[in-house]
Amino acid sequence: MDKIVIKGGKPLHGNVQISGAKNAALPVLASALLTAGTNTFHNIPDLMDVKTIKKLLISMGAEIEGEETVKISVDKIINPTASYDLVKTMRASILVLGPLVARAGVARVSLPGGCAIGARPVNLHLKALEDMGAHVELKNGYIEAKAKKLKGADIYFDLTTVTGTENIMMAATLAHGTTVLNNAAREPEVINLADVLKGMGAKISGAGTDVITIEGVPSLKPTKAAIIPDRIEAGTFMIAAGMTHGEINVLGCNPNHLEALINKLRDTGMKITAIKNGLKVSAGKKINSVDVTTVPYPGFPTDLQAQIMAYMCIGNGLSVISETVFENRFMHVSELLRMGADIVIQGGNAIVRGVPKLRGAQTMATDLRASASLVLAGLAAQGTTEISRVYHIDRGYESIEKKFSALGADIQRVKA
Ligand code: EPZ
Repeated sequence: MDKIVIKGGKPLHGNVQISGAKNAALPVLASALLTAGTNTFHNIPDLMDVKTIKKLLISMGAEIEGEETVKISVDKIINPTASYDLVKTMRASILVLGPLVARAGVARVSLPGGCAIGARPVNLHLKALEDMGAHVELKNGYIEAKAKKLKGADIYFDLTTVTGTENIMMAATLAHGTTVLNNAAREPEVINLADVLKGMGAKISGAGTDVITIEGVPSLKPTKAAIIPDRIEAGTFMIAAGMTHGEINVLGCNPNHLEALINKLRDTGMKITAIKNGLKVSAGKKINSVDVTTVPYPGFPTDLQAQIMAYMCIGNGLSVISETVFENRFMHVSELLRMGADIVIQGGNAIVRGVPKLRGAQTMATDLRASASLVLAGLAAQGTTEISRVYHIDRGYESIEKKFSALGADIQRVKA
C-alpha cells in the first residue's frame, strides 16, 4: 500500500484547480439507470469511488466511456444487483437502489456495512421505498426490493439524509403520482442531481429546500450536464493555506457553497476574498481558536470537521469541536495526538487546546476525511510525516499530492 511522505513547514503559494464533486458525481452517474440512451456528464473527477460506481453500473448493463467527460447509457438493466464485494468498498453504492426499483421494478443491493465513522444505517431509504409501495426484505445481508410501479407518497425523513434524499428523489421521478420529501437534505449536490433529473424530463420543485416535490412521469430521456465543483476539496485546500501561513488562489470552486466555512475561517483570522473564478485565501497573522459544530447544509459540513480540527490543533487557545452528524467521526484524533496535538474527547465533543507546533510522525489513515486532516497536519508540522493506507485519500481526492506539491509543499507518494 502506498504512503504519503511530507516534510512540513512550507507555506503554500500559487493556484489550485478544484475538481468535480465526488458527492455529486456518484448520484448523477447512478441516475443514468433511470433512462435508456446516452447521457453525457462533464467535470467527473478522477477518483477511486468514481471507478467503483462505474464498475457497478457496468455490471448492471451500463455502457460507459470517458473519464473527465463520461458518456453512459443503460439501454437495458441486465442485472439489478449490487454485490457485497463492490458495496463494501463504497457505501454510496446504495444510490443504485432507488433508480433500479423505479426503472426495473426490482433491486438486490448488499447492505452497506458500517464504516470507520459510524454504523450508517439505511433504514430511512428503505422505509421511504416501502411508503412508495415497494416490498423490501433483508436477506443474507442483501436488500431485496420489488415494486411493479412505485406510487407517489408523502415521505418524512426522521433525520436529514443526503443519499436518502437523493435515492428517493430518483425513485420518485418514475413513480405514479406525486411524492413530497419532507426534511429533505439541502446540500448543493442534491440540487445538482435535481437539475440533471430535470434535464431528463423529471418534474421536480424545491430542491435545495427541506421540502422537495416530485411529480412522476412515465419515462425519462438522456441528458447532458456538468458536475458542480467539490466544496469539500476546496475547503480542504483553504484550511491548508491557513495552517501553513500561506496564500493561495482556489480556482473553479463555488464560494456560495462554502459560506459556513468562509465565515469560520475569517473568525480564525484568515483573509478570504472573491476573485475571478474562485477565492483568494490568505493565512492570518495568528490562528484564533474557534468553536465548530457540524450540522447538515448550509451549516458547517461534517466532511470538513477533521480538517478544521487539524487547524485548531495549532490555534492560540481552546476550541470545542462538536460532531452532531456521525457518532464516531473522531478517528483522526488518536493520530493527531501522536503528532503532539492536545485533544480530549468528551462524547460528541473534541476539546482542542492549541499547541505552538505539531511534530512529524508515522501515522495511519482510517477514513477519507481523517486522512485529509493528517495531510494538513503534516504540511504544518515540524519534521517528516508519513501517512500509510493512502487508498483512503484516493477515494475522495484527485492527485492530492500533485496538487499540494504544485503549491510548494514538500510532499510525495511512495510506492509501497
Ligand atoms: C453523505 O453520506 C455523504 N456521502 C457523506 O460524505 C457526508 O458525510 C454525509 O452525506 C453527511 O453530509 C455521499 O454523498 C456519497 P447521511 P450519507 O445519510 O448520505 C443517519 C465523504 O467523506 N442515517 O446524510 O450516507 C446517518 O447514520 C462522505 O465524502 C440514518 O440513521 O449521510 C448519519 O448519522 C462521508 N439512517 C446521518 O443520518 C439512514 O437511513 C446523516 O447521514 C440514513 C442516514
